[in-house]
Amino acid sequence: MTRALRVRSYAKVNLGLEVLGVREDGYHELRTLFQTIDLHDDITLRPRKAGIVVRCDHPLVPTDATNLAAQAAEALRRYARIASGVEITIRKRIPVGGGLGGGSSNAAAVLLGLDRIWRLGLGPAGLHLLARRLGADVPFFLLGGTALGLARGDEVYPLHQQLRAWVVLVDPGLPVSTARVFARVDAGLTPRGNSSSIFYFVSRELQGARAFRLLVNDLEEAALEEAPALRGQARRIRGVLLKEGARLAALSGSGSSYFGLFDGARAARRACAALAAEGLQAQVTRTVTLEQYRGSGARRRAR
Ligand code: C5P
Repeated sequence: MTRALRVRSYAKVNLGLEVLGVREDGYHELRTLFQTIDLHDDITLRPRKAGIVVRCDHPLVPTDATNLAAQAAEALRRYARIASGVEITIRKRIPVGGGLGGGSSNAAAVLLGLDRIWRLGLGPAGLHLLARRLGADVPFFLLGGTALGLARGDEVYPLHQQLRAWVVLVDPGLPVSTARVFARVDAGLTPRGNSSSIFYFVSRELQGARAFRLLVNDLEEAALEEAPALRGQARRIRGVLLKEGARLAALSGSGSSYFGLFDGARAARRACAALAAEGLQAQVTRTVTLEQYRGSGARRRAR
């Protein structure tokens, strides 16, 4: 039997997110800019004779069949008609309910890892359909880097310009349910028409500071309604990040994590210290480009 495989499962932030309307399937039509960051969970895949078993060190992560990583393994096992099973051990670092795509990333990492263990040769393109059935954010994690997400967010196009920046991530410790935030959006949804700040953004130099002012997150108001305790914190977090020179200070996805983008490590560390001094839980990480994300496959090692 093949030996165990360890893979990294990276988090993402949404640099911008526009809600365009409600779709017939009940989901929302989106236009979003995804970005992988270096913060990651570690996943170990150990082949076993039968059955799918999940272990995780985080109390909020289910280890039964509702875990998205378990569902990913089961979906691929059926699709490829594999008789054997796998044990999935997840070491969590990505905050749960933070809008950082932890669960979706875990699912994509399991698909990519099992594709290797079971020698299926499907790759990101061959896994795309299974990924989108698991969740709207899962296909993005087959590619990583800086990418445009359309439709439910599951139609993903890597950008020619990949963003390189330092990221200060703030976890307010108030997990928020994505489904509930989207449900709240409907009430206040005003049609965006064809206006697209993201289009203007991608047509400019990504490294240019001014372009970031164009980006918005249409889920923020709904997230703040869903978690009222977040509102005061959000103001403080944004205030500190901008004062310390962040090019962009925004909520990621449906929240509750906020992040700031910085050109240099020193400014990022200063911002992190300033947030910590205010009693906020912050950490410094970096963007992971498409190339770096692909290259991280080399670090996936058998044990
Ligand atoms: O696809 P996923 O299960 O990650 O989505 C979580 C929830 O977020 C969905 O059940 C849906 O309510 C909402 N959602 C949405 N429109 C999207 C993506 C997610 O309404 N484009």
